[in-house]
Amino acid sequence: MIYRTPRGTQDILPQYQAYWRYVEQKAAAISSLFGFERIDTPVFEATGLFLRSVGETTDIVEKQMYTFDDQGGESMTLRPEGTAPICRAYIQHGMHNLPQPVRLYYFGSIFRYERPQAGRFRQHQQFGFEAIGELDPALDGEVISMAWQLYASLGLKGLQLQLNSIGCRQCRGVYLDVLRDYYDGHDLSLCQDCRVRAEKNPLRLLDCKNPACQEIVKGAPRITDYLCDECAVHFEQVKEYLGGLSIPFDLNPYLVRGLDYYTKTVFEIQPEELGGQSALGGGGRYDNLIEQLGGRPAPAIGFGTGIERIIMSLRNQGLAPPPLPRPHVYVAYLGQDAKKEAVRLAAQLRLAGTGAILALSDKSLKAQLKQANSLGLTRVLILGEAELARGMVLLRDMARGEQEEFPLGEAVRRLTG
Ligand code: HAM
Repeated sequence: MIYRTPRGTQDILPQYQAYWRYVEQKAAAISSLFGFERIDTPVFEATGLFLRSVGETTDIVEKQMYTFDDQGGESMTLRPEGTAPICRAYIQHGMHNLPQPVRLYYFGSIFRYERPQAGRFRQHQQFGFEAIGELDPALDGEVISMAWQLYASLGLKGLQLQLNSIGCRQCRGVYLDVLRDYYDGHDLSLCQDCRVRAEKNPLRLLDCKNPACQEIVKGAPRITDYLCDECAVHFEQVKEYLGGLSIPFDLNPYLVRGLDYYTKTVFEIQPEELGGQSALGGGGRYDNLIEQLGGRPAPAIGFGTGIERIIMSLRNQGLAPPPLPRPHVYVAYLGQDAKKEAVRLAAQLRLAGTGAILALSDKSLKAQLKQANSLGLTRVLILGEAELARGMVLLRDMARGEQEEFPLGEAVRRLTG
């Protein structure tokens, strides 16, 4: 083997495609139930878009972006997340003129230079949705319930919803001062990254995966104790709406998420099987992002979920997707005249909407039947020279081992529908 998939990427082989189509169909169906419309944006964007939105001192920007100068010398980045491109599109296409909130959903490849492990890839496929231009906490309830309904409709069990509010520009400043004071006392026990975070972006301290740092997080002040009145009321209402929707949640005052654009509500959904570090999906409000990217202020909320992680959970829970449609008919032949007829018959079947696989390479009938069997094709049309001379064809039912003969002209009608 000279070439293999790059580390942290994978081929999605035919035997797994049914899972992918199943998840994508459910996601698209639920999106339209909630009034979300599909949008597709480029796989790469100007690097500045992500620096400004995700945040210059996040792990994603500091360590994980695939950034390159194009032939014209402009810095481009393969999208490391989906929200910033959607906000860019909202501004670029003047979507503030549409009825608000604008509800958009997307599927797309996301690229992050991560240390590959179970459920963590360097290229993954994300389903995400964003509702832009509305602050009503009922919208938070809708977005969270849409995520919840997606997983429920796929049959996933044992999911846990974690919820927090990380406040707004006003109240977060106060909290960050208190947080810095707390961390001043733990400086020596922190990992190298956290020492820098304490200086540059203290909220990220709560997100560190290092076990020693996580111990320190456990005693940290809680942001929910410092919310301003507006954020506190918003959070209370989100909780009430979730209660009314019978969506169970756990409050996690240390949930901050790995991107800097969040404000107020943040949430993550964890599967029971993949330890706490690998959320099935997550999202939150980002009320300042549109403005930060140069648009008119527009509060917003959204969610993203990795298709690979959903499929891992489906497989772990023994949930199989419905099979994809495939041909059931095999067209076998004996002799060159029959082969010509077989080519035509297979074509007619497909034109009539019946999938058919044509035998090739002039094999013995035994070998052809064997191939039909290994392909799982249940019905074999056999065109033999003697039968054809009488204008007839044989149909073999592979499961029952039975055979019947009928006029060739009836074959398409008999096998279609
Ligand atoms: P995120 O939490 O970074 O959020 O990613 C969302 C989901 O994408 C994760 O919960 C996980 O399912 C999947 N994911 C992320 N990284 C990887 C990876 N390396 N390998 C496999 N799956 C992965 C966002 O990206 C936000 N844009 C979500 C959002 C939308 N917030 C508001 N709107």
